[in-house]
Amino acid sequence: MITNYFSETTKTMKSSLIRELVAETKNVPGLISFAGGFPSPATFPKDILSELYKEIVAQQGRDVLQYGNSEGDDILKDELLKWENYPNLNRNNMIITVGATNAIYYMTRCLIDPGDVILCEAPTFLGTIVAFEAIGAEVQSIPMDNEGIDLNRMAEKVKQLRDANKNIKFLYTIPDFQNPAGITMSIQRRRDLLNFCEAEEILIMEDNPYSRLRFSGEELPTLFRIAHTEMNNSWLVTEIVSFSKILGPGIRVAYVKSHPELINKMVSWQQKVTISPDCVTERVVAKFIADGYMEPHIKSLCEFYKPYLDKMLTCLETEMPSYVQWTKPKGGIFLWLWLPEDVNADTLFYKAKDHLVTFIPGSKFYPEGQEKFNCMRLNYTYSTFEQIEKGIKHLGELVKSIYV
Ligand SMILES: Cc1ncc(COP(=O)(O)O)c(C=O)c1O
Repeated sequence: MITNYFSETTKTMKSSLIRELVAETKNVPGLISFAGGFPSPATFPKDILSELYKEIVAQQGRDVLQYGNSEGDDILKDELLKWENYPNLNRNNMIITVGATNAIYYMTRCLIDPGDVILCEAPTFLGTIVAFEAIGAEVQSIPMDNEGIDLNRMAEKVKQLRDANKNIKFLYTIPDFQNPAGITMSIQRRRDLLNFCEAEEILIMEDNPYSRLRFSGEELPTLFRIAHTEMNNSWLVTEIVSFSKILGPGIRVAYVKSHPELINKMVSWQQKVTISPDCVTERVVAKFIADGYMEPHIKSLCEFYKPYLDKMLTCLETEMPSYVQWTKPKGGIFLWLWLPEDVNADTLFYKAKDHLVTFIPGSKFYPEGQEKFNCMRLNYTYSTFEQIEKGIKHLGELVKSIYV
């Protein structure tokens, strides 16, 4: 049996529960899904990208069809540093990766020995939890309030773990329009968190796929920017930015800014695992920025998505009973719903199919043994207005039917 040959890590590795759940409901006719995390295909800038791919291959094919740099394309790095306005950083502070997923994997590989602790928000992005666990980390989650991670609870957790002689390596956080909760960390909480982590010598992995998807309100500086500009700290924060929700997740391009010594080690991992990112796509993204397409494109994305978010918020207001609460994000692609304590959204998930609506039960976004069950994640970027209206109505009827 081939499975007898599997390594211990592979034998115990978890698959993506979300994929399994999404697959479970895939063939139900008429089902409205708020489950996935897909951006709307209508937002993909396919005309510009197809022109750029053609042009890059025709004009630079001899270069970009060759093996590329493991640290990523210099031209793209220069464009990104200019675009983000980091005059004090240089190419050595950056690696380009095949999506944020690879960046998260490399950084974790660089820092984690089996048994080391990674702290995270509760709830958090499931894809990352399973990667952390596969690498042998112990993942400990810390609750959030509506300003982000709860620092009192974090201080308690750090003390408790250190008293037990645990080695805490880093905090994994998604400060903007968090997946799954849709919460954005306040500016005060960002500063307090940074001060706490600096004092406690806990590194921060800042996962940032959504900050540019802000539909209203003022943009907040990333943890990375605050650490660099206000604290003059070059080691505390590593920021990972993905283009998946901006250009399309099929464009497997993300970039990481960090201390050159950590970047160097991540490059070493990329060399072993991937050799280099896709050189054609790197140059296409560079030209997309250089030709001035990026900012107008992001603006149009935000204008496109805002009505869908507004629609879901209005429908929730109309359809949900008063004992249901939800987050009210100003961007991103998800919101989070809290049900009464004794309602289990895992059970609701199976009943929801009969009401022709689906979602991801909240418990899937917590490390094992730390779950909350009275919650769910809803995505609003992959449905039509009519589907949102109908789906939320069905969901409201379902909730009311089990909790009278
Ligand atoms: C918080 C978060 N991190 C990382 C990823 C994965 O990003 P990528 O497509 O760049 O690998 C996602 C995708 O949904 C995400 O929500």
